[in-house]
Amino acid sequence: MYSLIRSVRRSGILVRQAYKLTSFTRCLNTTTPFPEFRDLTELRSHQDLHRFSLTDPQEFWCRLARSRLKWDKDFTTTLDSAGLQEGKIAWFLEGRLNAAENCVDRHLPTKGDQVALIWERDEPGTQEYYTYRQLADMVGQIGNLLRNSGVSKGDRVAIYLPMAPITIATMLACARIGAIHSVVFAGFSSDALASRIQDAKAETVVTADQGVRGGKVVELKRAVDDAVSRCPTVKRVFVYQRTEADVPMGKQDILLQKAMCAESSHCEPVSMESEDTLFMLYTSGSTGKPKGITHSTAGYLLYTATTFKHVFDYKDGEKFGCVADIGWITGHSYALYGPLSNGGTTLLFESTPTYPNPGRYWEMVERLQLNHIYLAPTSLRLLLKSGDSWALDYDLSSLRKLGCVGEPLNYEAWEWYYRVIGKERCDIIDTWWQTETGGICISPRPSAPKAHIEPGMPMRPFFGIDPVLIDHDGQEVTEEDANGALCIRSIWPGMARSIYGDHKRFMDTYLNPVPGMYYTGDGARRNKDGVYQITGRMDDVVNVSGHRLGTAEDGHPSVAESAVVGYPHDVKGEGVFAFVVLKDDATELEHEIAENLRLKVKEEIASFAQPDHILFTPGLPWTRSGKIMRRILRKVAANQTEDFGDVSTLANPSVVESIVERQAELQ
Ligand code: PRX
Repeated sequence: MYSLIRSVRRSGILVRQAYKLTSFTRCLNTTTPFPEFRDLTELRSHQDLHRFSLTDPQEFWCRLARSRLKWDKDFTTTLDSAGLQEGKIAWFLEGRLNAAENCVDRHLPTKGDQVALIWERDEPGTQEYYTYRQLADMVGQIGNLLRNSGVSKGDRVAIYLPMAPITIATMLACARIGAIHSVVFAGFSSDALASRIQDAKAETVVTADQGVRGGKVVELKRAVDDAVSRCPTVKRVFVYQRTEADVPMGKQDILLQKAMCAESSHCEPVSMESEDTLFMLYTSGSTGKPKGITHSTAGYLLYTATTFKHVFDYKDGEKFGCVADIGWITGHSYALYGPLSNGGTTLLFESTPTYPNPGRYWEMVERLQLNHIYLAPTSLRLLLKSGDSWALDYDLSSLRKLGCVGEPLNYEAWEWYYRVIGKERCDIIDTWWQTETGGICISPRPSAPKAHIEPGMPMRPFFGIDPVLIDHDGQEVTEEDANGALCIRSIWPGMARSIYGDHKRFMDTYLNPVPGMYYTGDGARRNKDGVYQITGRMDDVVNVSGHRLGTAEDGHPSVAESAVVGYPHDVKGEGVFAFVVLKDDATELEHEIAENLRLKVKEEIASFAQPDHILFTPGLPWTRSGKIMRRILRKVAANQTEDFGDVSTLANPSVVESIVERQAELQ
């Protein structure tokens, strides 16, 4: 008999409990890919291991944490969930480690000369390669530069950079000295950047003179100058020279490459506690104010390391091509932390899927011999419209797994990906997760290697994830073949810890809606085989090309009231439809106001957030309790005006007819 000691919590007190496992009569399991569990011979299948990860998460994650991360000091308690009611989640207590050491230094003895980063610059064929040794030197120099400039542990550093090795090195340099990186997507406007710098009270900004994307120049430094003029906390701005354009330099601006060259590449890492914040990243909620989601050092790193390895079945020496921008969580988890914590080779894609033509991804796959590509369904929909020939022109035989994330993958796009790109020999890995979950939670793999993959569904929960469907009354839906609000009943290491500066909002958004569970905000369907399909957001968030947008309205002098909803869009997944009621004394013409509104959204948020349609209407469908009945607006936007269901709670039912008439006039 073999016995294990596990810690369990009873009445809030941690106790050590011995429990018995069956003997080694059966040979080592063959289907579980985890060497850490080979001694537990009764864990024979993925289902067994998944069950084990839920019944004994402490033992499950304890073993993985010890073998997959490098610790400065071992942890004593795997999970302390005593404070769960208040949202205090603590993994790997007393443990100490550094994320940059785990992603870089750890690999130097064996992989110093292996390529860590492939920089796929905007112009095809101008790629650059960076080894682990070169990355280590950059991280060290930037770490010293930040430290010597006054950045210390816990300080927030805003990063507004294009996809480049320097961006990865800056993030890891923050991690090395214990600073919290807050990357702001370089497509966001100066207003959006300013509000994120202000919310994080960042003293340091790292940016570039210009970005280059799809053959066009993006004026990053100009946007930073504008933002920083409204951010009194900012003391220093480091400027990376991407194009070497002549940009104005102010008193607090420092040229990054020049300054880092003066620094030593040896930078002593700060030994961080497991629960110290590694980074924050803003995401949209249903209200206007973006949420600075915070992630922990040990839990996040372990979860991204594990999901990266097993969801994509990543093998040593392979080239992983996540084409997401580092400004989104996908870039953080699967262009940086997942691949590098595994000693992998990762792609940094600076361009767009259609530059210089719709063959860009596929030409790149052939040229760089990528083994994996991880992209958004929106780009697949765009590319399949351009015809198969762009893909058929290239040799895609290096590809092994084809991933996607961000929005539902419709059947047509799935089929194209499988047939035209994967030649019916690559698994399609549709991954469901969120900024808040840190890493992939639902995906077709891992599972038994030959297990069936159903088109258009992420399907199976990852280890440690216990998905649950909840009905309108907050009760669990137990039947299969049913819909509900997707919640997660387990606690996993990669889950977000808080919203920066607003823990109450974190509780109210994620942990309070269904007590004892993490509330995702998504709807899902579980089919008769018990696998999951995501049906979309249940709140007012609109998902445009895989980017989450809040729908809170903002003022314009001529606008009395407005409401924004999403509607099905055949390339972007969802388009943005704005309903606008003008003030009686508005003097401008409607098309002028529409133009101004679009410009305003571009300036205050980003170009991708601009409405596709603006409909001027005499009023909005308010309920008697003072809420806009958005489902009516969603129907109008989707052109489904036959049946609006029950409208008896509307204060002004006749307005619906006027909105429909207005919409019909414009078609
Ligand atoms: O609605 C879900 C959708 O994207 C949301 C998360 O957005 P974000 O935090 O920006 O992270 C995107 C990348 C992880 C989810 O709440 N979503 C994500 N993946 C899928 C998806 N919807 C359907 N299928 C997916 N595979």
